Formats: sequence, C-alpha cells, structure tokens
Amino acid sequence: MTLEREEGEHLRRVRSFVRRPGRLTPAQQRALDELLPVYQLDPALPDLRAAFERPAPLVLEIGFGNGEALVAMAAAEPDFNFLGVEVHEPGVGRALRAVHEAGLGNVRVAMRDAVELLSQQAPAGSLEQVRIYFPDPWPKKRHHKRRIIQPDFVNLLGAAIRSGGLLHLATDWAPYAEWMLEVLEPCAAFSNLGQPWVDRPAWRPQTRFERRGLGRGHDIFDLLFARR
Ligand SMILES: C[S@@+](CC[C@H](N)C(=O)[O-])C[C@H]1O[C@@H](n2cnc3c(N)ncnc32)[C@H](O)[C@@H]1O
Repeated sequence: MTLEREEGEHLRRVRSFVRRPGRLTPAQQRALDELLPVYQLDPALPDLRAAFERPAPLVLEIGFGNGEALVAMAAAEPDFNFLGVEVHEPGVGRALRAVHEAGLGNVRVAMRDAVELLSQQAPAGSLEQVRIYFPDPWPKKRHHKRRIIQPDFVNLLGAAIRSGGLLHLATDWAPYAEWMLEVLEPCAAFSNLGQPWVDRPAWRPQTRFERRGLGRGHDIFDLLFARR
C-alpha cells in the first residue's frame, strides 16, 4: 500500500459530507439509470485520464453540486477535459442531464468520495487543475475536522496536480477562507498567486451556493495556488 493510499484510508474515516439518500426525483433517477453508465468514470480504472476519448489537460471539479459550473466551464473551455466528482446523488442526476442536453463530449462524472478518487485513480501529475467551489464550510468548531481542506487532503492534491498546474478554491465563508490559507500557505507543494485572494477568474461561473452566500450579504473569496 502506498503512502497516498494510507492517507486516503485515514481520511476516509472523517467524511466531509453527510449522505442524505432517498430524495431523488423520477427524472434524476432516470438520469442516473440511463446516463451514469455513459458518463461515469469506471471506479476500477487506475488512471482517470483513460476515461476520455481524447488526450487533453484534465480539470477536476470537486463537489460540483448540481453541475452548473461543471457544464458551463466544459462548454467554455473545450480544450480541457473535465471530470466532476460529487457524492450527492440528486446533484449528480441533475448534472448528468445538463451534460447530456449540452452535448458535451469532454465531461466525465464520478459519483464517489473525492478522497477515494484521488487516492486510487489520480496518478502523480495527472491533473492540470483542481477547482473546489463553495465547499461545505462546517462552521461549528467541533465540525472543523469535516472541512475538506485539510493538510492530508492538500497533500493528495499536491501529488495529483502536475508541476505548474493550478488549485482554485472559492468560498463565501470568511473564516473558511482564512482556514484555507492557514492550511495551504505552509504547504511546500503550492505557492499562492493571490495577495492573498485573487479577483474571480473569468473561468469561474457563479454557482448556486455563491448566490446563496451573496443573498446573505457574504463576501466571496477566490484563492488560486500554483503547483510548484
Ligand atoms: C456546499 S456544496 C457546493 C456545491 C457547488 N460547488 C456550488 O458551489 O453550488 C458542497 C458539495 O460538495 C460535496 N462534497 C463534500 N465532500 C465531498 C467529497 N469528499 N467528495 C465529493 N463531493 C463532496 C457535497 O455533496 C456538496 O454537494
């Protein structure tokens, strides 16, 4: 077992999400039944790049929610392949329908824990970029360990992103933005391209959780790091 796999095993004991099954609409269930087999990354594939018909730099979006940003980005950046990973089944159902309706050939979807995916299917340097938009902030102190941005998780990202590649994070929760900085600034694999934030890069569309944050009067923080 590799070190990364051991880290994956360890991280899997603390989940950054709570499964809420049984809330699929018939349309979402149909999308999962009919479209997941078409667009799904085979969980047994050891190299996620092999899921795509053509070789192209690969962007991984972690926790894509309903897939709004995933679909918009894949349409706007056709030279990249996009892999979205999400555990929330209704969101995956909605995203699959949107990917299919948009006729996108550069998108694949993984319905599984991002930690497992990174540990098992992302060889060193296989990713061009990782984008994580509005991850669950887990605001209560006793839940902070559930935040997906943690030193071990960032090490997994550092192993998977190629040298010169990018890690892009966004949040509307100021204490989580500070937390992200605290985790990433000491990390030798990444250098911060912001001071410490960046203006929203043109490639990031607005998402559902961003609109919710704005509606609550929150500021939005974009963080951009280069893999050294
Ligand atoms: C607050 S939502 C944000 C969704 C979307 N990015 C947006 O901005 O609207 C965070 C999402 O991350 C997903 N998530 C959390 N931990 C995850 C993990 N370990 N692997 C995959 N998805 C995860 C959750 O299921 C949830 O849909």
